[in-house]
Amino acid sequence: MNPLKIMFVCLGNICRSPLAEAILRDEVDKRGLGSLISVASCGTANYHIGENADSRSIAVAAKNGIEMNHRAQQLHTDHFHEYDYLIVMDHENKVNALKIAPEGEEYGIYLMRDFDFIEKGSAVVDPWFGDLAGFDVCYEVLERCCTAFLHFLIEKHQLKS
Ligand code: 4NP
Repeated sequence: MNPLKIMFVCLGNICRSPLAEAILRDEVDKRGLGSLISVASCGTANYHIGENADSRSIAVAAKNGIEMNHRAQQLHTDHFHEYDYLIVMDHENKVNALKIAPEGEEYGIYLMRDFDFIEKGSAVVDPWFGDLAGFDVCYEVLERCCTAFLHFLIEKHQLKS
C-alpha cells in the first residue's frame, strides 16, 4: 500500500505547520506506522521558503523530546493532487489555500482543530507575534489534535503496524 500523504498548512511554514509535522511524525514512528503515513508541511505564503523552522518552534519541540529538521516550502497547486489530506491551522489559511487550489475542482480541506475535543473547529492561533508561552500553548493544542487525527486515520484506513 502506498503511504497516506498528509500535508499540514499554515501561513509562513516556520511556526505551526512544521511543529504539527514533527509531532505527528514522532507519533507515527512511535507506533511503527512510518511506512504507512508520510507527513509534510507548507505555507500559503512565500515569505520564508528554504528557511528552517522558527527557533521558538524548535525550542518547544526539543523541550518535548522532538528534533526538528525543516526547510520551509510554499503550498503548490500540485500538492492538492499529491496529498491525501491537507490540514490548515486557521480559517484564513483555508481561504488562502483555496486560491492556490486547481481551478474547477472541489477539495476537502480539513481544519486542524476539527480533530480537537476542546474548542473544536477553532483556530490554532498564530504564535509568531507572541512570546515563548504562546508556543507552549500551540504545542499543547497541536499534540492533542495530532493524537486525535492519528486515531482517526488508523480507524478510517484500518492501519496496523
Ligand atoms: P506560521 O507563523 O504561519 O505558523 O508559520 C507565521 C510565520 C511568519 C509570519 C506569519 C506567521 N510572517 O508574517 O512572516
